[in-house]
Amino acid sequence: MRKQIIVGNWKMFKTNSQAIEFIKSVDSKVKADENIIAGIAVPSIMLSDVQKVAKNIVISAQNCYFEQEGAFTGEISVPMLQDLGIKYAVIGHSERRDIFGETDEMINNKAKALLAASITPILCCGESLKTYEDGTTIDWVKSQITKGFEGISADDAKKVVIAYEPIWAIGTGKVATPEIAQNVCKEIRDIIKNIYNQNVADEILIQYGGSVKPENIKDILDQTDIDGALVGGASLIEDSYLGLVNYKG
Ligand code: PGA
Repeated sequence: MRKQIIVGNWKMFKTNSQAIEFIKSVDSKVKADENIIAGIAVPSIMLSDVQKVAKNIVISAQNCYFEQEGAFTGEISVPMLQDLGIKYAVIGHSERRDIFGETDEMINNKAKALLAASITPILCCGESLKTYEDGTTIDWVKSQITKGFEGISADDAKKVVIAYEPIWAIGTGKVATPEIAQNVCKEIRDIIKNIYNQNVADEILIQYGGSVKPENIKDILDQTDIDGALVGGASLIEDSYLGLVNYKG
């Protein structure tokens, strides 16, 4: 039985004090147990303070750079995350790819750097509306996954969380139907099986992301190959965040 992992992605929202207040208010109300991981990916400036107040909520970075240190103005390194005790980092979000020009190679390097430091990469993939309409979603995602996992061992691959986020469903209110999401997540599991083996495919966690809300999370997480959600907008409001992570009641 795979665990479930539901992670809020705050993107560039909230100030440090608002973030601390939010975590203090919701943390004790999160019913996380050994079968469900509840997380929030916060802007890097808040990681340190928020990490100190979160007990039930797992704090994630939204990005990192792959070099250990150096002249990379504005970036944060894996050792910096390690020093704060951060255990998860989102990499390759479509906004990072599209707005900041991140390539599959950079994302692959980030995954390797994180795994070497025992931090779980939440590696995002997903197609644009045009790719979806052209019917080439699977080819697109296969290329992202193949390049993203290049040079990663089977043992390490199992530790990665894949987030499938169709770009046309992010922040648009247009959620992929549970059937569409399940179909692509199943294909992703098959891609992983072909790169590695059945065991890695059975163990790896695959999230869906894109307009997930308390109202639709159950239908999405009921799908066989969907093990969690990466949630933007609906994770910013306390009641709504609790509605997501405590969806089982
Ligand atoms: P959304 O964002 O839930 O607001 O659609 C999801 C994401 O970008 O991770």
